[in-house]
Amino acid sequence: MIHAQRLTKSYPMEGRVLMALDNVSLHISEGEYAAIVGPSGSGKSTLMHILGCLDSPTSGRYRLHGRDVSALPSAELAKVRGEEIGFVFQGFQLIPRLTAIENVALPMVLQGMEAKERLIRAQSLLERVGLGDRLRHKPSQRSGGQQQRGAIARARARHPAVLRADEPTGSLDPASTGEVLALLDQLHREGRTVVVITHDAKVAARAGRQLQIRDGRLVGDA
Ligand SMILES: Nc1ncnc2c1ncn2[C@@H]1O[C@H](COP(=O)(O)OP(=O)(O)O)[C@@H](O)[C@H]1O
Ligand SMILES: [Mg+2]
Repeated sequence: MIHAQRLTKSYPMEGRVLMALDNVSLHISEGEYAAIVGPSGSGKSTLMHILGCLDSPTSGRYRLHGRDVSALPSAELAKVRGEEIGFVFQGFQLIPRLTAIENVALPMVLQGMEAKERLIRAQSLLERVGLGDRLRHKPSQRSGGQQQRGAIARARARHPAVLRADEPTGSLDPASTGEVLALLDQLHREGRTVVVITHDAKVAARAGRQLQIRDGRLVGDA
């Protein structure tokens, strides 16, 4: 499903080259729940951007569902991303002026789904994350945990095969963290491939597999 071979990502920095990713190879099977863990600055987000088709590697090969996406032009990459991947971010990235239901329905516009169908589907996704009574609340009118649950509902709006979460609990209190982790567990049980990026050992422990990254290199896989 996710097959990365010798990925590198380098950035030119004041006359030298910073290797944010240094020869990372990994394979994540369909339906797996994997955590990418490592200290701040180790390259987790860089890796997630490449695996999430938000960016291309400097070198190496990345195949997603058997298709080589390492060197796709950005418009093509955006298409793959929209079809295959759902995202959950630390800062939720919900649109402030839209209600919960509008935020979840938004990605469905790109699928050409009709307005009525979008709202019905968005409502059902929100009910499944326990936000059935917060449909018309804007993000600022919901707690952090409720916002992140909304973001998870939105991430599922287009039936992605892979759900990718970058520090999804990074700005949540313990109770909300528990709720979000329970939802990720549920997505995994439903057969979704879940990749979570975290520097929190408790969050990582929920995944069946932990990939350790240090200074841009993969140093552990258990
Ligand atoms: N766009 C960029 N330009 C230059 N350096 C970058 C860029 N993005 C990330 N880096 C550097 O790459 C390294 C890894 O960053 P990142 O992937 O964000 O780490 P993490 O998510 O583990 O905290 C860091 O040293 C960071 O400063
Ligand atoms: Mg990061």
